Formats: sequence, C-alpha cells, structure tokens
Amino acid sequence: MKITVITGSPRKHGNSFAMTEAFIQAAEQRGHSVQRFDAAFLKIGGCYACMTCYKTGKACSFDDDFNSIAPVILDADAVVFTMPVYWYSIPAQIKGVIDRLFSLVVGGKPVAGKKCALIACCEEEDLTVLDGVRIPMERTAALLKWEMVGEVLVPGVLNEGDIDRTDGCKQAAALVEKLA
Ligand SMILES: Cc1cc2nc3c(=O)[nH]c(=O)nc-3n(C[C@H](O)[C@H](O)[C@H](O)COP(=O)(O)O)c2cc1C
Repeated sequence: MKITVITGSPRKHGNSFAMTEAFIQAAEQRGHSVQRFDAAFLKIGGCYACMTCYKTGKACSFDDDFNSIAPVILDADAVVFTMPVYWYSIPAQIKGVIDRLFSLVVGGKPVAGKKCALIACCEEEDLTVLDGVRIPMERTAALLKWEMVGEVLVPGVLNEGDIDRTDGCKQAAALVEKLA
C-alpha cells in the first residue's frame, strides 16, 4: 500500500511524533511505502474558498506546500493523520491541510475509496477531550468516502516522552494491521 502520513505537531520529539514514527516503522517493515508530511514545518495556509481549485493546473490557486501534498494524497491507498489536541480541537498547523482537502472535492478528483486512520493525544485524562479531533476527522473521512479503519487516542500525556508511559506507540504500530 501507498500510505500518506500527515502530522500536526510542532514538537519533533513529542508524543504524537513518537507514535507516528512507531506507525511508520511498522508500516515499512510490512512492505508498505510511506510518504510523510510534517505540516508544522511546511508552509500551508487556510482555504480562501475562491472555488478555483484545479482550474490553474494545480490543486490550489494559492501556491504553497499543500500543492505538493495534494497529488500524493490522491495517489495514496491510505491517509493517516496524527496530531495533539490543541484547545479541544485540531491544531492550526494541520487544519490548513484538512481544510484544503476541499480542493479535491471541488476539483472533482477521484478521492473516494481510501482507508484512513487517526493518531491523537492530549494532556487531560478524559478521553472525551479527544472528541474535538476524532469527530471532525470521522466526518471528514465519511464525506470523502474514506473508511476510518482505526484510531489511536491517547489521553494523559503532556510532556515529551510521556507517551513512553503508555502503550500509545504499541497501538500505533498495531494500526498497520487495520490498514492492510
Ligand atoms: C497550544 C496548546 C493547546 C493545548 N490544548 C490542550 C487541550 O485543549 N486539552 C488537552 O488535554 N491538552 C492540550 N494540550 C496539550 C497537548 O495536547 C499535549 O501536550 C500533547 O501530548 C502534545 O502532543 P505532541 O507532543 O505530539 O505535540 C495543548 C498543548 C498546546 C501546546
């Protein structure tokens, strides 16, 4: 499978990156090819809602790094989103990528039929804190006709390294089995 991974944390040694790396390592061991985009280290703005998607030969008329991600997503069999919870919601760093998936729909691209998965974490112990990430990603997948095959949702992690006190990385590695 061709798997596109899109991360949303700005912390290179953080909890969601650790889970992302466990997932990618397991995926590559299983022979999948993985292409990863770290949204926080790319230039990706919001959607201008200009409705000119793909009218200028590229996904978005406003040219930034999203235009490198769009063709890779279109070519992928599966898309995996990884992120922390920021203020009960999706971090701004990755939200631009998600908003601009709109271009694939407006542009009439053959986007349906992919598998999708979510890896997310937050500080608070209450699992419902992750609803602000989980619910929009589930609905996004449903609208795009992507099958959400697995979710790794880890509450109770604040600082870098906290993920090692949980089974988050083990769960992230096991997610590969659900994609295949
Ligand atoms: C700007 C910001 C907002 C946050 N908002 C929340 C929140 O609403 N609820 C929560 O439980 N944790 C919140 N956190 C904590 C992170 O979700 C937590 O530290 C997580 O482990 C970070 O993941 P990372 O290491 O992959 O970046 C916030 C952290 C930051 C920096």
